[in-house]
Amino acid sequence: MALFYPFEMERYLETLLGERDPLLREMEEQALQETIPVVTPTVGNFLNLLVSMCKAQEILEIGTAIGYSTIWLARAAERTGGHVTTIDMNKARRARALVYFARAGIQNLITALEGDARKILPKLDSTFDFVFIDAAKGEYLEYLSLIYPLIAPGGLLVVDNVLFRGWVVPGSTFTPKYDRMVNGLRQFLDDLCQNPDFTTTVLPFGDGVSVSRRQNAKCDNRYSTQEPR
Ligand SMILES: C[S@@+](CC[C@H](N)C(=O)[O-])C[C@H]1O[C@@H](n2cnc3c(N)ncnc32)[C@H](O)[C@@H]1O
Repeated sequence: MALFYPFEMERYLETLLGERDPLLREMEEQALQETIPVVTPTVGNFLNLLVSMCKAQEILEIGTAIGYSTIWLARAAERTGGHVTTIDMNKARRARALVYFARAGIQNLITALEGDARKILPKLDSTFDFVFIDAAKGEYLEYLSLIYPLIAPGGLLVVDNVLFRGWVVPGSTFTPKYDRMVNGLRQFLDDLCQNPDFTTTVLPFGDGVSVSRRQNAKCDNRYSTQEPR
């Protein structure tokens, strides 16, 4: 896991979380062994806290992988009476996630859709009061425009990896093969932070997490001609 600030600090913050349940631990181990880029435990805990705080009912995640962050979200949904819809295009990972959901005993709280989020999102006909993006970093701008009409007024949008190893900060040095991704993330953050319909803050823990709240009042929508549903 690449981190924006010293690894030691993330480790320390992890110790403050206390004991995680054995299933989450097992998933962390699996992810580490197979280099599956799941959220850090501190980010998972943060997602759980946010869902609980805003009493989210309809939760959407883009990027299930093996379901680690989904379980953090769904455990909060259990308390709020909510439901999680999660999307991933990787069939094998989705299959593994389903097994973990069953083992966690929360499969009834989760709908796991398989396919490209860019194709699935336009077909969804519900609105969501909590959206978490953690999929292909180069596609974040596309997700944003597709998700925009799906976020309920007053809803939260949380996005992982927005500082991508700290390289999104101007003046950072990194190998040129990441140019496109880093520039895409800079553009994404600029768009998000300048959108008058969102109030956004970027938190420098994990790999950088943005949290945006969609305004209650209807504003000019730069992304879509559709009304919020
Ligand atoms: C960083 S991993 C998600 C990790 C997960 N959120 C967690 O923390 O446990 C990103 C996932 O996004 C999926 N993905 C990438 N592009 C996608 C797309 N266009 N549509 C759906 N899934 C996509 C990948 O298959 C991968 O499993």
